[in-house]
Amino acid sequence: MQKIGILTSGGDAPGMNACIRSVVRSAIQKGIDITGIRRGYTGIMTKDFVKLDRYAVANIIQRGGTILESSRCEELKTPEGRRKGIHILKREGIEGLVVIGGDGTFRGAAALAKESKLKLIGIPATIDNDVYGTDYTIGFDTAINTAMESIDRIRDTADAFERIFFVEVMGRASGFIALEVGVAGGAEEIIIPEKETDLEKLCRTLKESFKKGKRSSIIVIAEGNEVGHTVQIAQYVQYRLKADCRVCILGHLQRGGAPTARDRVLASRLGIAATEGVLDGKEGHVVGEKEGKIVYIPFHETWERDKKLDSEFFESSKVLAL
Ligand code: F6P
Repeated sequence: MQKIGILTSGGDAPGMNACIRSVVRSAIQKGIDITGIRRGYTGIMTKDFVKLDRYAVANIIQRGGTILESSRCEELKTPEGRRKGIHILKREGIEGLVVIGGDGTFRGAAALAKESKLKLIGIPATIDNDVYGTDYTIGFDTAINTAMESIDRIRDTADAFERIFFVEVMGRASGFIALEVGVAGGAEEIIIPEKETDLEKLCRTLKESFKKGKRSSIIVIAEGNEVGHTVQIAQYVQYRLKADCRVCILGHLQRGGAPTARDRVLASRLGIAATEGVLDGKEGHVVGEKEGKIVYIPFHETWERDKKLDSEFFESSKVLAL
C-alpha cells in the first residue's frame, strides 16, 4: 500500500486532531503517503484533498474540533454517490481510508468497502460514547469534564437562590454522558433514555430533600430522554412544587475545547492501531479499546448492536443523592 486517506465525519469530538496526528505520523513512519480529505465524505465528492506531512499535524494535539472539518454527506448514501466517490479515490491513488467518527460514519465506510477494493478502517470518536465494542470513544472524557465544570458553577448560583436546576447534557439516544456527569457533579437525579422516569416520584423526592434541609438541587437530563423536553420537565416540577426552577442546556459547549490527557492518549493509541490495522488485514473493522486492550470490531456490529449502559451503577448511584 502506498497511499491512504483520512477523514473525520459526523459530530466533531475533542481529540479528533490528536487522532489525525497519530495516524499521519504512524503512516509516514511506515513509508505510506497520507492524504487528508476535508469535510468528511463530502470532501471525496468535491475532491477536497490535502497532502499531510508530519509538519502539517504539528501543534494540533491540544486543539479541539478537527483540522479536516466534518459533515454529514447525503450523496454517499446513494449507490451513484458511492460509485462516484470510489472512482475519485481510485484516480487519486488512495488504496486505504481511515474514517474517524461514530456509527453513521462506519455505515458509510462499510458500504464503500462492499462496493470497492478500498481498505477501510474506523476509529470511534463521538462525545456520546455510544459506539458498541469499545469502552470509550474519543471525546467522551473531555465532554464529561466540561459538563462537570459547568455543573459545579451552576451549583454555586443554585445554592445562592435555593433553586432547582435542570441541566441538559448531550446524548441523542444514550445516557452515558448524563450518568457520568450526574455522578461527578453530585446531581440529585439523573434522567436518561435507557430508564423510565416517574415525574411524580421525582417531585416527591425533591420535596423530601428540601424538607431535610437541602438548599438546592441539580437534575441532569440527557437530551434524548423519553420523558420530554427539559423545559417541559422543569415547568412540570415548578407547577407541582411551586419551587423556583431554572433550565440550563449545555449543548455544543460539550463538543468544543482542548481534549483532556485521557482523550489525547486514547486518540494517539487508536490512531497507531488503525494504521497498523489497515496494513495487517484488519480492514472492515473499527479499532477500539476494551479493558485497556486494543480490539477490532467489525463495522456492522457498531450499528447492529447496542452498547449497554451500566444499569447497576445507575441504580446504586441513587444512594449518593439522599
Ligand atoms: O456528537 C453527538 C451529538 O453531540 C449528539 O449528542 C447530539 O444530539 C448531536 O451530536 C448534535 O449534533 P449536530 O448539532 O451537529 O447535528
